[in-house]
Amino acid sequence: MWKKRILWSIPALIVLVQFIPVDRSVPVVKETDTFYVSENVPEDVVQIMDNACMDCHSYNTTYPWYSYIAPVSWWLEDHIEEGREHLNFSVWAGYNAKRRDHKLEEMDEEVKEGEMPLDSYTWAHSEARLSQEQRDRLASYFSSLRKQSGPENQIEEAEQEEKDDDEDDHGDHQH
Ligand code: HEC
Repeated sequence: MWKKRILWSIPALIVLVQFIPVDRSVPVVKETDTFYVSENVPEDVVQIMDNACMDCHSYNTTYPWYSYIAPVSWWLEDHIEEGREHLNFSVWAGYNAKRRDHKLEEMDEEVKEGEMPLDSYTWAHSEARLSQEQRDRLASYFSSLRKQSGPENQIEEAEQEEKDDDEDDHGDHQH
């Protein structure tokens, strides 16, 4: 008897958890603060980044239908929050010059090494699977921006990493 009851409660539970709200709200974005506008990013790079980066690293997230279904929705929102926390292209101009330089260095590396976009993302988003050519294009563009920003903004990696950690710790996110 109790076994039957437990079995019945599983679908009920799945239905019920759908009503737990997921916060998908975002603040108003100033166009001039975005990576695209502030760095005047060329169209071909914009296109690759729109497909491969922006769902997780900006406030401009497109949510597919399955992202509304718990518990997938919770898992995705967690990823998006974490991605934005590390790097948010919607508030790019708000980072100071040294931070931007350090992020560009990381972007260059992550893309070259094939770490980004995350594998879990490219399973579901075939348009985000980057060809070698696209990786090279992004990496060389990111490193060209670093050169523009000038050597005075480039500091020791360890130093900046420490600072980033501090800034992340003081963010309003709780894990
Ligand atoms: C599915 C979501 C997702 C996508 C898509 C994605 N990222 Fe990330 N990214 C993350 C998460 C989560 C982290 C933090 C944890 C980690 O490093 O794995 C991160 C970390 C990073 C970092 C390290 C930032 C730092 O300094 O801590 C860089 C740089 C980065 N991503 C660049 C990119 C670029 C460039 C793209 C597109 C080519 C991209 N990411 C696509 C989720 C994503």
